[in-house]
Amino acid sequence: MIKVKNRKILLLPGDGIGPEVIREVKKIIEWFNKNKSLDFKIEEGLVGGASYDKHKNPITDEVFYKALESEAVILGAVGGPKYDNLEFSKRPERALLKLRKELKLFANLRPAICFEQLVAASSLKPEIISGLDIMIVRELTGGIYFGEPRGIEAIENNERKGVNTHSYTTSEIQRVAKVAFDLAKKRNNKVTSCEKSNVMEAGVLWREEVQALKDKEYPNIDLSHMLADNCAMQLLRNPKQFDVIVTDNLFGDILSDEAAMLTGSLGLLPSASLGAKDKNGKTRSMYEPVHGSAPDIAGKNIANPIATVLSLSMALRYSLDLDIEADLLDSAVQKVLDDGIRTKDIMSSGKKEVNTSVMGDAIISKLK
Ligand code: IPM
Ligand code: MG
Repeated sequence: MIKVKNRKILLLPGDGIGPEVIREVKKIIEWFNKNKSLDFKIEEGLVGGASYDKHKNPITDEVFYKALESEAVILGAVGGPKYDNLEFSKRPERALLKLRKELKLFANLRPAICFEQLVAASSLKPEIISGLDIMIVRELTGGIYFGEPRGIEAIENNERKGVNTHSYTTSEIQRVAKVAFDLAKKRNNKVTSCEKSNVMEAGVLWREEVQALKDKEYPNIDLSHMLADNCAMQLLRNPKQFDVIVTDNLFGDILSDEAAMLTGSLGLLPSASLGAKDKNGKTRSMYEPVHGSAPDIAGKNIANPIATVLSLSMALRYSLDLDIEADLLDSAVQKVLDDGIRTKDIMSSGKKEVNTSVMGDAIISKLK
């Protein structure tokens, strides 16, 4: 096999359980370097509260430039109660939002897959979720998260007013819809686009522009439109009706949490945030588990590292052209679950409970 020379992966452990789950990913990359003749250069940096504690800044320029130079960024999690009272610009979440916005990562892919071994862990009936495989494509750099004007201002009568702005342009909508359509082509050709066109103009535009792109370029895609509140309900009623869901930044935030929890396995779900191609045809990207920093269990070595491990596998597949290695890693995770090895969050009777590092080691043992 040809040695891949010095490809840079940036690991950003962040806060809470982030460092613990990233540690396992680092072990796996090192295993690939040693045993599969890959030559990844691993860099690390502080983000979120961890960076604030040291630099009074949730992400330094140095770390930001490292992210710009890496082929893939893998982030653990940011945030925690300790930082809840900081002003907005200093909060851990700002690091995440800055990376998304400035790396132009406009398409966030959040799969909600039900692992057969864990059907019983869902709060829904097994027949509703067994075999579930949805891909949520969330717009990530626009909408109400970034719209201007924004702020809190004093108004008359000693009152205050909070303002955020939700807006989208044709190109912002169509570039993310294109990602959804292209993904659907490799899946079941079905896309559901969600908005609130019954109350919002930006929702009307969303619906029209998604439809226009389909009519022009994707004649074979089965596209339907659904109001976001109905989508939230349908996800609980009959989630298997969905293949790819495309939606805006805020609805995507909410619907992806709901879809993830359906699978009973928040600890298993990875995500990818992809940008546009640069001059050299490379796509910028960042990968992170869907779960957050889980401060309540941080530092105890009990977190489930699988979502972050599967985020590495998405990075291998979508950014690093290493499909064989990605398949190998996915199947190692499956084998560990087949063997009944579980972290606390997905434990059930008759299975073997292990901690974070033992789970990492078990996955590595299945790579062999
Ligand atoms: C997510 C998170 C973030 C978001 C937070 C941490 C800013 O909830 O990635 O879904 O709202 O986008
Ligand atoms: Mg969220």
